[in-house]
Amino acid sequence: MKLPKLFSIHDVELKGSKVLVRVDFNCPIGSNGEILDDSRIRAHVPTIKELLRRDAAVVLISHQGRPGEPDFVTLENHCSILSKCLGMNVKFVPDVIGPTAINEVRNLRAGEVLLLDNLRLISEEIIEAVPEVQARTYLVRKLAPNFNYFVFDAFATAHRSQPSIVGFPIVLPSVIGEVMKRELDALSRIYEVSEGPKVFVLGGAKVQDTIKIVEYLTKNKVADRILTAGLVGIFFHVAKGGSVNKETLKVLESKGLLSLIPRARKLILSGAPIETPYDYRSFKDGGEVVEDSVSRLDGKALDIGSYTISMYSELIKEAKLVVMRGPAGYIEDERFREGTVKLLKAALNSNAYVIIGGGHLAAMVEGNVRENVHVSTGGGALLIFLSGEPLPAIDALAESTKKFFTNLTIK
Ligand code: 3PG
Repeated sequence: MKLPKLFSIHDVELKGSKVLVRVDFNCPIGSNGEILDDSRIRAHVPTIKELLRRDAAVVLISHQGRPGEPDFVTLENHCSILSKCLGMNVKFVPDVIGPTAINEVRNLRAGEVLLLDNLRLISEEIIEAVPEVQARTYLVRKLAPNFNYFVFDAFATAHRSQPSIVGFPIVLPSVIGEVMKRELDALSRIYEVSEGPKVFVLGGAKVQDTIKIVEYLTKNKVADRILTAGLVGIFFHVAKGGSVNKETLKVLESKGLLSLIPRARKLILSGAPIETPYDYRSFKDGGEVVEDSVSRLDGKALDIGSYTISMYSELIKEAKLVVMRGPAGYIEDERFREGTVKLLKAALNSNAYVIIGGGHLAAMVEGNVRENVHVSTGGGALLIFLSGEPLPAIDALAESTKKFFTNLTIK
């Protein structure tokens, strides 16, 4: 896919302007509401510093989790972490579009930074629609008039067509920040890898998103092998007609995933190159950790087993391109980290061009990479891009560029 030319924060005059910056501070959250990994917050520090250096007033907006999920929390802790990273006080406003938020935004001066609360507290933000519709939401209509520019830096959300992502570019001159720039530069290099095998390792628990990604990968013939793990692996095992114990089936049922089985079956029948784990490591009622084949599994499956790890590692070793997204197991618990750690090692020790995506995996390889490894802040967005499908955020930014920057040339 050819990337459109987009303007960045380096291409526009920012002195004295007020900028609205869409970041992605969506972090893994622990059972006590604590932030387990802050790399997504730290990733945006260069963008914010550059905006401050250029004398702008900076208002940050982000989502965290999804309503109804345990990681759907306010951004107060994110703000404390950001203040520490920037070495200055970032004001947290526990509001998004109410009078408090609007007043604080209006009173903000150049050189100051403010973070509004979790965007998904506003119900409009979880609805997907075309940019023109999103530009008419309350969120966009209340916030946009207070700004000179919209800066999009949330690469990891680029596959969503939500108001904070595609609505603002319709009404405000929009440019990209440092995270977006780094991601797009790295992704445009991927087209240099034309040789296969191209191996995608898809784990984690975002089954619905992964089905869509596998559909795209299959339709556009991008992947030679798709190695599934985590809940995604169990789901595809069941879709292939494999059996699992009642406890595991209940997990799929409680997440509303059983209704997606026919869609996954269709994919498998259409020749999607999906591999599923042969064995899992599980947690039995009495607290014992055991390993067995998927169909004979006892207890809750929380990591892939040794046989799967070694088979998958072999396939990774032969690949020319490896794309990994989502953990293979419940990495928050040391006993169930091994699958993820070993698959990551296999990829990093291979000769392949490696792309690692999603918050969990990115946190595990931080600061520890060789040449030809790109650690992306994106998960779903990264995979949709790699599967050759358009990203709504990029399309909206391209539209904004055409609309507002006709007389500017990109440096
Ligand atoms: C991500 O973690 O992939 C992004 O923050 C997007 O989150 P979402 O899948 O809840 O939209």
